Amino acid sequence: MSKIDELLAAMTVEEKTGQLNMVAAGGAVTGPVQATGIEKELLAGRIGSLLNIWGASGVHALQKIAMEQTRLGIPLLIANDVLHGHKTIFPIPLAEAAVFDPGLWQLSASEAAAEAAADGVAMTFAPMLDIARDPRWGRIAESPGEDPWVGARFAEAKVRGFQGADRCSGLSQMSAIAAAAKHFCAYGAPMAGIDYDSADISERLLHEVYLPPFAAAVATGCAAIMPAFNDLAGIPMTVHVSLLRGWLRRERGFEGVIVSDYNAIAELLQHGVAGDLAGAAAAALNAGVDIDMMSGAYVQGLPEALARGLVSIDMIDAAVRRVLTLKERLGLFKNPFGRGRETSTDLALPDARRALARDLARRAIVLLKNDEILPLPANVREIALVGPLADARTEMLGPWAMAGSVESAVTIREGLAAALPDARIAYAPGVAITGADVSGIAAGLECCRNAELVILCLGEAANMSGEAASRANPGLPGAQTALADAIFDLGKPVVLLLSSGRPLMIAEAAERATAVAATWFLGVEAGRAIADVLTGKFNPTGRLPVTWPRDIGQVPIYFARRPSGRPAAAHNPYTSKYLDTPVEPLFYFGHGLSYSRFALSNLRAANPEFYPGGRLMIAVDVANLSPAAGEATVFLFVRDMVASVARPLLELKGVRKIALDPGEEGIVRFDLGASDFSYPGTNWNPVLEPGEFMIFAGMSADPQQMLSITARASPG
Ligand code: NOJ
Repeated sequence: MSKIDELLAAMTVEEKTGQLNMVAAGGAVTGPVQATGIEKELLAGRIGSLLNIWGASGVHALQKIAMEQTRLGIPLLIANDVLHGHKTIFPIPLAEAAVFDPGLWQLSASEAAAEAAADGVAMTFAPMLDIARDPRWGRIAESPGEDPWVGARFAEAKVRGFQGADRCSGLSQMSAIAAAAKHFCAYGAPMAGIDYDSADISERLLHEVYLPPFAAAVATGCAAIMPAFNDLAGIPMTVHVSLLRGWLRRERGFEGVIVSDYNAIAELLQHGVAGDLAGAAAAALNAGVDIDMMSGAYVQGLPEALARGLVSIDMIDAAVRRVLTLKERLGLFKNPFGRGRETSTDLALPDARRALARDLARRAIVLLKNDEILPLPANVREIALVGPLADARTEMLGPWAMAGSVESAVTIREGLAAALPDARIAYAPGVAITGADVSGIAAGLECCRNAELVILCLGEAANMSGEAASRANPGLPGAQTALADAIFDLGKPVVLLLSSGRPLMIAEAAERATAVAATWFLGVEAGRAIADVLTGKFNPTGRLPVTWPRDIGQVPIYFARRPSGRPAAAHNPYTSKYLDTPVEPLFYFGHGLSYSRFALSNLRAANPEFYPGGRLMIAVDVANLSPAAGEATVFLFVRDMVASVARPLLELKGVRKIALDPGEEGIVRFDLGASDFSYPGTNWNPVLEPGEFMIFAGMSADPQQMLSITARASPG
């Protein structure tokens, strides 16, 4: 008999439901209800896992109770939201997506895992894989952006990073943690961008856009999945039998743990799909949810559900088995105290992690506009640094930085001061991030008096992005537009830096500024990374992982639109466009400037005809036409010209970066499988229809700036 069989045979129903119960330990508040009396519940065997606790001493104290004072001595599973670093806070996921480098995505996850594991953590509620096409939704900050191909690569990299690259022994390494991919699924498509609201999308969109990142996570061996809060066409994801038991478990073969979101099982009552806690618990368990996070529905409701015949003991046992199996895979039975080696008073962040945080942060910065003002001239002497984000330590870390310390963050002001020791930097916040007070604008203007140029730092507070942070009007908050206008009116060159967790509606400010950069929430090294880019110490290479709208009325806006029968045409009113706003975004997906100037040429296919099961080799030449060494990013898109179902105008199939010295030329190659040209057909199984495909290579999704060739899929 295996250890798990023995335990299952020995457990009471109460101990079983206890193993399915995850409770928040209060180290951080991440939901609307809080737990009390944790030790008592733990002693009674009614808690199997905890969230919102880290630090070896605290974790080990509770683990000791679980191991030594409960009847069966089953170790606790400790989980936390390690979204963009644990103590060393890296750029938010949307910013990290802008790096377009799976190797770095994986590295930051493995470093975060090592840090979290050293703090006693064994599982993270990450990666967050919600495709997001609406910047009103605050959680776009946590997402890999708008594109499913990027989402899938992000999923693979993050799962490998958190769990260890070795699929077999990875999780039992004491520096690895289990990944829980979330939020399954379509959470990124809430009505009108309101968090927690219904998603009501077509099945096609579900299979083409929202499921692929989860398919990739499962294929990479992701240990857990978290269903989303939202309902999908009326069925809350927590009880979505056909997606959880059907697609995830049966079709994709997912055998790991499904952990509910915070209080989500109890919230089935508010959703109006369960009449009481027993009914809610039964519905979630029957749908395949193993762990109940923070609703108490399983411990309170499952015994009654069992008595009423709503669930079977086999169903409960199967869920307990999955939870115990995860604990076993994590090495918790053998080594319950193995994670948690450093004391939480170790405040200094290791230099190597800081260096990684800085490198990621500068790679995440997207230079959106540059009218020949950046990099700053080496002889600049008088700079005005204005804006509420210029010296805002608390805002640098971003929305999920629970174990991070604000003191560890470097502000923009500090970063610039260190990078430009010979320049005089006059600073004034001008206005607060929010609020209508404009009394500080005069001081802001005053500090520009002798300045050769102004660095204007605007944007959001960290808590204006992330969960429960939807904004109907995601522009510059408070009086920041008034400050910006007053500064622009001075007529001096202005470098506008945008701290935010989403694309902000800044069309007018972008027009008036001399340069604009998206600096997101970059983590502990924000200030130094920004200074690296502004001074030219680092040549920017970040690219937008989302289309940047010019007006909020354009959302949802994304490059993979389907063709209209009446595509927009300038002089024809009967075409697909707005009367009051251009259809084009402010900045295309993939946009991002460099201090180098690159040109693409000679897009070619080694074999313009390909067959089912075959491959298509594409190449394009890239030249650096400038005196600055830099890194070019090439995006490869395809379009299926004629198919039974209208295919998107552009589908992303590859992204490559190439570093080129001044005057250097290089070749970027893409190796596509025929399956990359398929799309979900009957029963959503991939189908490759013979016929013509356009292949596009560009440095963004701007259709005006692409090279194209055709290729043909033959029937085989
Ligand atoms: C609710 C959030 O939706 C989820 O992403 C997070 O992991 C949990 N709270 C736990 O903090």
